[in-house]
Amino acid sequence: MQYQTEVAPRTGVDIHTLEAAAVAATRSAAVASYAWVGRYDQKAADAAATTAMRAALADAPGRGTVVIGEGEKDDAPMLFNGEIVGTGFGPDFDIAVDPLEGTSFCARDLPGALATIAFGEAGTMWSPGPGYYMDKIVVPPAAKDVIDLDDPPEHTLAKVARALGKQVGELRVMIMDKPRHKDLIARVLRAGAAVQTPAGGDVGGGLAVLLPALDVDLLLGVGGTPEGVMTAAAVRALGGGMLGRLAPQRNEEADAIRAAGMSVDRIYECRELVAGDAFFVATGVSGSALLGRPRVSAGATVSESLLISQGQIRHLTHTTFA
Ligand code: FBP
Repeated sequence: MQYQTEVAPRTGVDIHTLEAAAVAATRSAAVASYAWVGRYDQKAADAAATTAMRAALADAPGRGTVVIGEGEKDDAPMLFNGEIVGTGFGPDFDIAVDPLEGTSFCARDLPGALATIAFGEAGTMWSPGPGYYMDKIVVPPAAKDVIDLDDPPEHTLAKVARALGKQVGELRVMIMDKPRHKDLIARVLRAGAAVQTPAGGDVGGGLAVLLPALDVDLLLGVGGTPEGVMTAAAVRALGGGMLGRLAPQRNEEADAIRAAGMSVDRIYECRELVAGDAFFVATGVSGSALLGRPRVSAGATVSESLLISQGQIRHLTHTTFA
């Protein structure tokens, strides 16, 4: 990530300091919302994560602008779009954030809830305006040049399989189990690929595509826009492939997008969703194959985070003594 030249040398802030601030933010959000795992109270879990993350971000060096926060869609507690965070001393940067991604997983103690954030160079993160939903495709680096959101899924599967050196029948596709995806899931199955259909959590889905150990070859389907921009930061940092296109789910959303002068036909490439250097961080909340949940014992809290930055995936374990 680049810095405003007049600021960085004076403050001595480097990318590792910003990464540490982002990890502190997701860790705080994860530990705070972990107290609500299995309590059947989504709002309280979201509020705990948001409050903790906001407090942690106040200590981040520099001036961060929340370009895309989460919550407006569901009227949930949120870091709001345009909110400024940080100490004010250091570089300017953009933020895409969901303090609690997979709120219902947290409330119901199901695997997959994460505290998530992405930092990018100032002025480089795409704002979806009033668009809450977008169609997405995420693939590993080897298939990044063969995808097109206008392709029928059968063509996408054939092209991605070829790029990955596999048969279509060997592909595993993550698609969220939503009524809007009924036809897509049926077509992918008919084409011969296997599907993984979690109830939600397409940031985790995008990460699974990028992490070879998780055995997912591509992510397809419509999910949230904040989740899309955060995923794009991780995809960009690792050289993967992603395309997105606004996909309003209600008439009011479509009208608002049109009124804002935006198009529902335009396909955005990963480098347009995040147009500069960026990094992504997640900390586990309810636990999953990706990241364990916080563990509390003998006055210590151990949390697991993933930092995706500059072509590397780092798995971090952090112990806090009360
Ligand atoms: P939350 O953080 O709001 O719980 O989002 C979870 C999620 O499943 C995302 O991963 C996904 O992008 C979005 O919701 C899909 O929205 P919807 O559930 O309204 O289809």
